[in-house]
Amino acid sequence: MSELRSIEWDGRCAVIINQAKLPGLFERVRLCGLNEFEDAIKSMKVRGAPLIGITAAYGVVAHIKSSAVQSFDDLKMEVERAVEVLRRTRPTAVNLFKALERIKNSLEEGLTVEENIRKLEKIAIEIDREEEEMCRLMGQNGAEVIKKADARVMTICNTGFLATSGIGTALGVIYTANEMGMIKEVYALETRPVLQGARLTMWELTQKGIPSYLITDNAAAIVMERIGIDYIFVGADRIAINGDTANKIGTFMLAIIARRFGVPFYVVAPSSTIDPNCPDGQHIPIEMRDKEEVLNVFGCQIAPRDANALNYAFDVTPSELITGIITERGVFKPHEIKKAISD
Ligand code: MRU
Repeated sequence: MSELRSIEWDGRCAVIINQAKLPGLFERVRLCGLNEFEDAIKSMKVRGAPLIGITAAYGVVAHIKSSAVQSFDDLKMEVERAVEVLRRTRPTAVNLFKALERIKNSLEEGLTVEENIRKLEKIAIEIDREEEEMCRLMGQNGAEVIKKADARVMTICNTGFLATSGIGTALGVIYTANEMGMIKEVYALETRPVLQGARLTMWELTQKGIPSYLITDNAAAIVMERIGIDYIFVGADRIAINGDTANKIGTFMLAIIARRFGVPFYVVAPSSTIDPNCPDGQHIPIEMRDKEEVLNVFGCQIAPRDANALNYAFDVTPSELITGIITERGVFKPHEIKKAISD
């Protein structure tokens, strides 16, 4: 499984693993048209902050490669159109907006159309490879945090190879520590309503043969109380400059419980997830998804037909509940996270 990549660029299209179908079906899907990239991100065939950014970058390149533009102005117009379409797919993960800005800002008026297309393709591949390398470094930095052999660790959502182009963020730390013989067991929260923990994290962990238990989201407290958890590692979708962190819905609740039981609570994220323009968690846009995701499970209605539901996809963990933020550049106190993006 270590050779599997969540996304491959074939020079015209991106080939992804359809995460909406896992674990029942392992299906690869080829994304070529702008609307295919848009749909894949919106419908969570691809998901996870770093992977969303990478997919969007390839989406712009695939679009301009397939639109027969002749002049710089037409090319710029098509790039801007693709960027606008992809910006509207998901609001919380800042990696999406950063990757799209980087692609857009790489256009150069002095270059020919072909040279510009080649340049943008190179940048998209660079974003992909940089994310892969940052995962490797986060894995190393995070494993050093684990001071106890035979650690029991807990995580939420899916932050593994499926969510990135490398080994993952929080799950990448767990993989690296496991290779060093430091992990006894992993406790994965199922992560209602889309069940990334049950469907994707457990799929990754069982493929790798790492001892693990799936628990319901509301079992986190009793597991900390009765079994004992040594460390919690979670991912991030956007980190504000004061260290407040948006991640999958339920992360805030997990951090509160961790504080109650004195469990170190680490956020693991590449610097591409830090938003230098966001002062604090109140300014992070939180995605609200369709209420049908809450009212149904795998197409089966679980609430009265006309019930209302709220579907917050993310929440914000205040910096004071976070022990440290593990990045590719080291481990930072949340209020010092600015250092991770300064030269
Ligand atoms: O809605 P999702 O599945 O895209 O949410 C993913 C998460 O919240 C992850 O924890 C985060 O993106 C980090 S992934 C390495």
